[in-house]
Amino acid sequence: MADRDPRNRLNDLTGPEWIYALRSVIATRYPTSGAESYAHHLRRRHPSPKPPQLLAELVRFFTRSGGHVLDPFVGVGGTLLACAMEERSAVGIDLSAEYADCYAEVCRELKLTPQPFVVGDSRNLSSYAEVQAKPFDLILTDPPYAQMQAKAKTGEHKKRGRSAATPFTASESDLGNLDYRGFLRELRLVLTSALPFLKPKGHVVLFTKDLQPTADHHNMLHADIVQELRDVPHLAFRGYRIWHDQSQNLYPFGYPFAFVSNQVHQFILIFRYEP
Ligand SMILES: C[S@@+](CC[C@H](N)C(=O)[O-])C[C@H]1O[C@@H](n2cnc3c(N)ncnc32)[C@H](O)[C@@H]1O
Repeated sequence: MADRDPRNRLNDLTGPEWIYALRSVIATRYPTSGAESYAHHLRRRHPSPKPPQLLAELVRFFTRSGGHVLDPFVGVGGTLLACAMEERSAVGIDLSAEYADCYAEVCRELKLTPQPFVVGDSRNLSSYAEVQAKPFDLILTDPPYAQMQAKAKTGEHKKRGRSAATPFTASESDLGNLDYRGFLRELRLVLTSALPFLKPKGHVVLFTKDLQPTADHHNMLHADIVQELRDVPHLAFRGYRIWHDQSQNLYPFGYPFAFVSNQVHQFILIFRYEP
């Protein structure tokens, strides 16, 4: 059994565990039923709950035991569950009281002590006592992808009987209801206001998914987010990983006329705060 290098201040991983965590594509299949699904049957009330085990892998790499994590777009609490699994603490923010109730129900079912969940607008995050309480080691979040849900009239959404018009919430404050440029601007604002609460050398880890190209823009949202954040003071882009979401089905988009990509992957963008 390899020992942890005493110079490693980032995480509690050994050398071999560190190497495994560097694979650029994560292609694990996470269960959506049974004990290992972390109450997915409740969390699936949300249009895109992330597997807590996937978030736990990131939490293990970017924090040490006892670390503190902020998720300003927490949904039904995937990041909070991941932190409970990994003995880290966390604060989540989401606009939706319904998602907060769902997270509370998940905690009751899993017999977990709930982590602080602020029902509020993350554009005001600096005003929340839970955010001010102590500095974070990691900001790990999955923002609502610039009208992604509204535009994605895929079989997956039809199958689940969801409205394509109201993505996560119907609120005007929901970043998912903004247009592409408005989304980038507000995401930048949220992250810029969160940085003072992050420890130096702490990381910002963001999930995102590209949109289909249109005549006027490539719509590679992951690239546009990196570009938008390039001059945020002290925030350095460090690279990305890809999550291959094994639960996504393939659809015959474009058949039999033209190529249209099936996007079964998401980008995990990694930034470091270097004040
Ligand atoms: C992609 S989902 C996050 C899902 C989450 N990772 C999970 O596992 O449940 C994005 C979330 O951002 C929330 N949201 C959108 N705009 C917000 C805002 N201004 N402040 C706080 N939350 C917001 C939405 O309600 C939605 O639940």
